[in-house]
Amino acid sequence: MTIRILDSNLVNQIAAGEVLERPSAAIKELVENAIDAGASRIDVAIEEGGKSFLSVTDDGFGMDKSELALAIERHATSKIPDNDLSNINSFGFRGEALPSIGAVARLTIISRAKSSPEAYKITVEGGEKSAISPAPLSRGTKVEVRDMFYATPARLKFLKASTTETGKIEDTIKHIAMSNPAISFTLKDEKKERLNYPQAPDLQTRFSDIMKEDISGNFATLATAGNGVEITGFASLPTYTRGNSLQQYLFVNGRPVKDRLLLGAIRGAYQGLIPSDRFPVVAIFIQMPASDVDVNVHPAKTEVRFKDSSIIRGLMVTAIRNALLDSHFKVAQTISEDALKSFRSSDLPSATTNKNAFNFQYSFWQSSSKKSTANTLFEARSAYVSEPAFTAESNPELPACEEEDFPPLGLARGQLHETYIVSQTKDGIVIVDQHAAHERLTYEKIKNAKGTAESQLLLTPEIVDLPEANAAGLLALKDELEKLGLVIDGFGEGAVAVRAVPAIIKDTDIKKLIEDLSDTIADFKGALSLENKIKDICAKMACHGSVRAGRRLNADEMNALLRQMEQTPNSGQCIHGRPTYIELKLKDIEKLFGRR
Ligand SMILES: Nc1ncnc2c1ncn2[C@@H]1O[C@H](COP(=O)(O)OP(=O)(O)OP(=O)(O)O)[C@@H](O)[C@H]1O
Ligand SMILES: [Mg+2]
Repeated sequence: MTIRILDSNLVNQIAAGEVLERPSAAIKELVENAIDAGASRIDVAIEEGGKSFLSVTDDGFGMDKSELALAIERHATSKIPDNDLSNINSFGFRGEALPSIGAVARLTIISRAKSSPEAYKITVEGGEKSAISPAPLSRGTKVEVRDMFYATPARLKFLKASTTETGKIEDTIKHIAMSNPAISFTLKDEKKERLNYPQAPDLQTRFSDIMKEDISGNFATLATAGNGVEITGFASLPTYTRGNSLQQYLFVNGRPVKDRLLLGAIRGAYQGLIPSDRFPVVAIFIQMPASDVDVNVHPAKTEVRFKDSSIIRGLMVTAIRNALLDSHFKVAQTISEDALKSFRSSDLPSATTNKNAFNFQYSFWQSSSKKSTANTLFEARSAYVSEPAFTAESNPELPACEEEDFPPLGLARGQLHETYIVSQTKDGIVIVDQHAAHERLTYEKIKNAKGTAESQLLLTPEIVDLPEANAAGLLALKDELEKLGLVIDGFGEGAVAVRAVPAIIKDTDIKKLIEDLSDTIADFKGALSLENKIKDICAKMACHGSVRAGRRLNADEMNALLRQMEQTPNSGQCIHGRPTYIELKLKDIEKLFGRR
């Protein structure tokens, strides 16, 4: 066996294998170089998903002739001047990106240093360097990459269809753009401009641009600091979720990172607020001393290692929880928008879209009034209107209210279908799903009692027969249940005796509750932590103890529910993550009726 030192092109190809998984990785490296060069504008162009061509043009400080010659050399970098790897404040630090690209593709760099009268060009094709020659470019740097991986056919085979690669490139640029609002970004392919983010004054504006909507209605703002770490950003309200975690953007000192630990912290922060198969949308920016985080742990620099990860994790959960608590009963604006859309797209014939329908109704009205049925119709209508429990005028329990006195969730004006509370707010109406809302209130009360839940002793214990395994599962959690106010004992094989129930759900059907609880417990998978088991148990109890849909409520009960919702954390969504209410603003209702 002969040991030999590999030639430099082979070394670069091997490095490229790690650094450049696909065209989007090359774009990431080049865009990061542009940011490190102080660019305020970065334009990216691609063809065939970046496979046949990609270019990144910036207006940064550029390179002079000698710097250009060095830039494509392996381990040549301008970014760690004091040789200190523990204090990196730039995206780049290895001097690997450009030589790696040059080893696997056809690379052309044209650059003009701010102080230089002209621009220069160099090319590298499969590791072969050209001479440096003058070239036209007014400022900054333009890097072009053709035929990605032509020199390493094995890697070429792994590339996906152009549309897939384009999607990955878009995602890469969105990530980088998110944490750099002061820089403008564009992306175009052979067909069209795909992204265009103009310079933005702040993160919120840039995030709104990327999300293609004003984020203020659907997101809570994070701001927490401690131990030299600062966490800012945006976390979606629990009623605004996605089916996967692709829209969870994380940044450490401006660097987009993927981090299982931090993703886990996000999941933890939302636990009990959203269904387990849904994912919040977040953009979280962690700022910390560069010396407390190691960025040199991943070939594509997408992962980092924290000196003390538990601090970051804890702060992140606190930041998200606090932000959601601050907007505690807020429901995502998109829900009202969807509601309004469904009104607009209703099948009802409208005067503008269906002239015949309008004529039909009009002639019906004419002919029926001729037959003087109008009065009958009117009487039938007024009988119907006065029949419900109460209205503002007909019910003395409901005070007339000055506009500014309206509490946030308004004053109850009535109950519809014995399920929905309709309330009037300062500038709109709110429709509450009474069961969903009450379930959240009950859940928070049971959960927060933390071992001191009040119990209601039963005069005679209730014996409930269960499948043997279910009874055993329930009894195994006897102590925990007791802390929640549910006192049970074994009662021979396959039965339990219930001695007391949580006072807050005292009117519930005990047998049903116990059967349901034991089923829930039997479904627990081994991996579930005790804390999560208890949350699930609380949720089950809350469901049993809550006002059912279909129960008539009086005005006091309705208003009490609304006031409690205003004071209870997370009351904008039920424990299954569905909204507990929707709000329609008067201005939107007016639009529906063509008043605006
Ligand atoms: N767009 C640019 N504008 C100005 N200088 C640049 C630009 N791109 C690269 N350079 C110079 O070329 C050098 C090499 O770039 P390269 O991306 O290969 O390495 P790096 O950025 O230093 O480290 P890393 O490999 O971690 O990205 C940089 O250190 C920088 O001095
Ligand atoms: Mg670089």
